[in-house]
Amino acid sequence: MIFTEEVLEEALNIGRKYLHEGAVANYIPELAKVDPNKIAISKIEDGDLYSVGDSKVKYSIQSIVKVILYALAMKNYRVSELKRYVGVRPSAKPFNSVIELELSEKKIPVNPFINAGAIIIVAILYNVYREKTFDVILEKAGEFLGEEVDYSRKIAQSEKESSFTNRTLIYLMLAKEILPSDTKVEEVLDTYFKACSILVSTENLAHMSYVISNNGVDLKGREIITKKESEVLRALMATCGTYDYSGDFAIRVGLPAKSGVGGGIVTASRNKTGLAVYAPRLDKHGNSYSGVRMLEYLSEKLDLSIY
Ligand code: DON
Repeated sequence: MIFTEEVLEEALNIGRKYLHEGAVANYIPELAKVDPNKIAISKIEDGDLYSVGDSKVKYSIQSIVKVILYALAMKNYRVSELKRYVGVRPSAKPFNSVIELELSEKKIPVNPFINAGAIIIVAILYNVYREKTFDVILEKAGEFLGEEVDYSRKIAQSEKESSFTNRTLIYLMLAKEILPSDTKVEEVLDTYFKACSILVSTENLAHMSYVISNNGVDLKGREIITKKESEVLRALMATCGTYDYSGDFAIRVGLPAKSGVGGGIVTASRNKTGLAVYAPRLDKHGNSYSGVRMLEYLSEKLDLSIY
């Protein structure tokens, strides 16, 4: 066993020490209402789920869904085709940066995990699935997360009402003709907001981590994505998953990972385990403050770094 109960408890105590550092996301008003003192770690090892802390508490998946969105896009297009619309390069600016989009090479979003990149992926999916797009996303999310999931109407609405930056990004992509002029802007944005508002627990995220770490196969032996697709997701998580903090995260933790402003972090490895953490206060890059410290502790203690 890699993750003993004792070491997880120790990691949780480290996380608790940092619990008051950082701040809960408030640019989406509904997110500011969460209990900032919740904290959890969940792992799957030898096929069994084990958790410490508030692992059943539900919160919005936020940017972690961008991994699922790209996985769905890969079911329809090759990465080389997707790269005409969204790159695979790390970002040097915050996840919702307008200037990065403005200045990026070929004027396309640098990767699918920043907001502009995820919005363009939703536009591509909308072209395929039309009004069924969100249902398809929700179903795929359920496969990754290990159970049927739903989304928070309140959070989706709050995202919509505060969506000034995301609107700027989509209109910039229309202005630059990266997106065709007949793009269904409202439908694409609504689908993106709902996708970010999918409710998950840390246990769900551990399942997602397991699927990506186990080359796409879930706990019941079902293939959710292919081996190649999981390799691509792990590579993108390693290089782009924690945004402009990805280099620091690689040194501190050394695992591919994807964070969300809801406070969750899902990791990936290649050792048939699942590992996810949760604590809603964020650092200035939008990553869970205590979450990063808990993962850093586990990585050092258990020699988890892949580098
Ligand atoms: O569009 C947004 O800004 C949010 N729904 C998602 C951003 C996010 O989670 C960034 N992650 N750390």
